[in-house]
Amino acid sequence: MAGDAVVASSCGGAGTCGKCKAIITAGKVDSEPSSKLSSEEKQNNYILLCRSTIVSDTVEITIPAESRRAALQDSQRERKILASQIKSARSFEHRLPKFDLNPITKNIDLELSPPSLSDNTSDVQRIKKQLKENGVTGSQVDLELIKELALKVREADWNPQAVVMEKKGLNPQIINVKAKKSNIFGFAIDVGTTTIVAELIDLTSGKIHGRASAYNGQIICGDDVISRIVYASKPGGLESIQALVVETMNGLINELLKIHKVEAEDVAFVTAAGNTTMAHLLLGIPPKFIREEPYIPTASYFPIIKAKEIGIKLPYARLYVFPSMASYVGGDIVSGLLATSVPDSEKLTLFIDVGTNGEMVLGNEEWLLACACSAGPAFEGGGVKDGMRATQGAIELVRVNRQTFEPTIMTIGRTNPIGVCGSGLIDGIAELFLSGAIGPNGKYNLELGAKNIVSRDGENQYILCSGEDSETGKDIVMTEIDIDNLMRAKGAVFSGMMTLLDSVSLSVNDIEEVLIAGAFGNYLDIDKTIMIGLLPDLPRDKFTFVGNGSLLGARLALLSGEMMEKAESIASKLTYMDLSSTPKFMDMYMSALFLPHTDLSLFPSVQEKLKSSLLS
Ligand code: FES
Repeated sequence: MAGDAVVASSCGGAGTCGKCKAIITAGKVDSEPSSKLSSEEKQNNYILLCRSTIVSDTVEITIPAESRRAALQDSQRERKILASQIKSARSFEHRLPKFDLNPITKNIDLELSPPSLSDNTSDVQRIKKQLKENGVTGSQVDLELIKELALKVREADWNPQAVVMEKKGLNPQIINVKAKKSNIFGFAIDVGTTTIVAELIDLTSGKIHGRASAYNGQIICGDDVISRIVYASKPGGLESIQALVVETMNGLINELLKIHKVEAEDVAFVTAAGNTTMAHLLLGIPPKFIREEPYIPTASYFPIIKAKEIGIKLPYARLYVFPSMASYVGGDIVSGLLATSVPDSEKLTLFIDVGTNGEMVLGNEEWLLACACSAGPAFEGGGVKDGMRATQGAIELVRVNRQTFEPTIMTIGRTNPIGVCGSGLIDGIAELFLSGAIGPNGKYNLELGAKNIVSRDGENQYILCSGEDSETGKDIVMTEIDIDNLMRAKGAVFSGMMTLLDSVSLSVNDIEEVLIAGAFGNYLDIDKTIMIGLLPDLPRDKFTFVGNGSLLGARLALLSGEMMEKAESIASKLTYMDLSSTPKFMDMYMSALFLPHTDLSLFPSVQEKLKSSLLS
């Protein structure tokens, strides 16, 4: 199954990420030369899998630890509770919207009078008539279901159960007629670029029966949306990349149905929220123009379809895909805003989701302004010498001794370190900056004579973990290029936020609440993100971690027709600001390429910490 992919392939086989290393232990392969392999690795028979062809009958390979993509459950770690988070993190329960349990699909038990020679109405008319008596007028039924009806109503001895979908603006649809009565279920699905999470929910009680997650099978086509678009644009690419995501979804659906002993026939509805590219790929819509100026998606609103039309193995369920706002502000953000009631808030709120793209929405009940910036892969451990995803073996926490500059590290799963993930990198840079080992320009201070700061391969590096203690047998380091990549990423996000504020003549201090969404946000240490200048320097109690707002919004839309309508009104209410055509963005970006920023007055708490750190 695609979700079980074991070898990392961040660039989707373009040969540029160097993550798909393997060691040939027997047999022969032809490999293209690559600068991603060190001379030592070449001598030790390392190859890049995506640049190699097998030429002998058999080969034996070993996948080194740093190339393995850990099983997903390893990454589903509990949010680490750091002291700074205890101070700052607030539950977002208070933000959840109030709604009535009123899904758009319902079971309606029918008691039809059997036909006779004097009552010769057709089966369909008989059902429609009784639905009308139940308040469902003008219902429609398609040919496919009509073909099954005669047998089903007779098998039910004229007491079948109709499953009806009623959505404002559409005629009611009879989506199934069941011979046996049963409960009605739905799936809420977050279609993430990296991970897909599905919840099986009873639509009558609102009870969540279970949740399952897996890597999005498309991950073998590259880690980010751009690689996926490139892949989909190749001949046959769209069909195969769509099949990969559907396969992952089917795996999760099947797993949950089995565990909870629910029949696929009893699932009436699926809501799916994902970014604009994910929505296009799921529905098989060519995404090509999302990445070409002027970055236009084919559609922002999608019709409700039969889930099986795209290969989802639910014979009667309908599929609703969340509306997007723009090419880089998608249904996942709309869903997150729905879940956190930002469009109903009196407070000026900054909603931020950081990944390979930084997506931000600023606003309140009156207006919502959105933008997206390309942060690059650094926050997810990409484009970083020893970077890796936040899975087992990733260094996630770094403390630096202020006298010796030696690190104390902690890994996910508390195993030997394999690499460093985005939150570990932020932690490390913040600690080294605070200790004076890194200057505001992101360069190491070589004059300190710290033994962990070394010059190797023409660049300065900080050794986070020596080869003796690492799983890979190699030193795990943070290079100046890594720091530079992270500074660019945080600079893009911070300047995106500043550009939004500037466009409405507001300042950082006007922000009353900051909501941090997305998987990466869960693991951030607020103090450290402020220290490096990623998030604004505001009182810590203004920050709230939202977690998977996309899944939560999908759940709300599954359980309430009103919430579904609200999602649509949020998408239409958002105003999108294209940063690439906003001249001020570039100025702001240049100013943000320092730790924490060229304008230190924007970061008073960092100034204080630096002062007391220097005094200590
Ligand atoms: S270099 Fe092989 S997948 Fe990126």
